[in-house]
Amino acid sequence: MKRLEDQVLRNDWIVACKIEDVKEEPIQKIVMGERIVLFRNEDGVHAFRDLCIHRGAALSLGCVKDGNLICPYHGWEFNSEGACTNIPQLPEGRAIPLKAKAIKYLCREEYGFVWINLNNNDPEFFPYPEFADKTYRNVLWGPQEVNALPPRVVENFLDVGHLAFVHVGYLGVEDHPVIGDYDVHVEDGRIFSDEISIFQPDPDGSGQSKDVYYTYEVLRPLVVQFIKRDPETDSKMKIILMISPVTEEKSIAYGILSFNYDTGQTDKEITDFQDMIFAQDKPIVENQKPEELPLDLQAELSLKSDRMSIAYRQYLKKLGVTLGTA
Ligand code: FES
Ligand code: CO
Repeated sequence: MKRLEDQVLRNDWIVACKIEDVKEEPIQKIVMGERIVLFRNEDGVHAFRDLCIHRGAALSLGCVKDGNLICPYHGWEFNSEGACTNIPQLPEGRAIPLKAKAIKYLCREEYGFVWINLNNNDPEFFPYPEFADKTYRNVLWGPQEVNALPPRVVENFLDVGHLAFVHVGYLGVEDHPVIGDYDVHVEDGRIFSDEISIFQPDPDGSGQSKDVYYTYEVLRPLVVQFIKRDPETDSKMKIILMISPVTEEKSIAYGILSFNYDTGQTDKEITDFQDMIFAQDKPIVENQKPEELPLDLQAELSLKSDRMSIAYRQYLKKLGVTLGTA
């Protein structure tokens, strides 16, 4: 991960996996090149660096006993705070060294996912009101691996111009490629587009092609959303995309799809469709050069219809400057 991204992301909440992935049994996740062990006890989910201070064993190969994480190599025990509470090799009465600790990361369960904050600075969490709103159905999507850096994947999601090409027949129609002018607004820390009219072949499953409105919003460096609204029925679908940065080469995409209308589909049909759409984007994103999203606005050639991507690039650039790492 490059330096600018590194600092910005370490200060943020990064999605690590779905809540349902973390049972008592410890699991390993790689976040920004770092091996993390996640496990659950009666206090909730905990995240440590997946490294035992004794001899560097991966704690994720161990187990949880009485709420403590046990190292697989020599059985040292670590409590929820990461403090070592037992060293089986120590003779009776010998104190546990103070340095015997696991490195703990802040960890939160929100919106069906587990989030990690590598710098332990507990930043604010983005709002997602639909998730608690009973009039919405929420479907979790992912993981989907992609061999690209996160900002390219995020920008692809914010890119309105590709729908009639990459997703022709699904999210766009070949003879309706034109994107009308729209603005992007930055208000009270929110970055969002106007409603953008898109002609789609079958936006609601009724078989009827028509115009729907897309509104994009940037929530965090690696969390973005759009809302699709049908102007005739006012039915809304919101998709939130969250990227987990794994290594320099690999990202994992997760999402939540929220509907305030009956789609007539099972959860699996909904996620299968999303997988298919993502599979169409994947070869494009994995082969874009440079791999790093250019934050210099003179780099590449933008159209007016790329305003949302430009706003995202400006946002990332500003974040870097704020943190003094640009
Ligand atoms: Fe973990 Fe020895 S390496 S207890
Ligand atoms: Co796409």
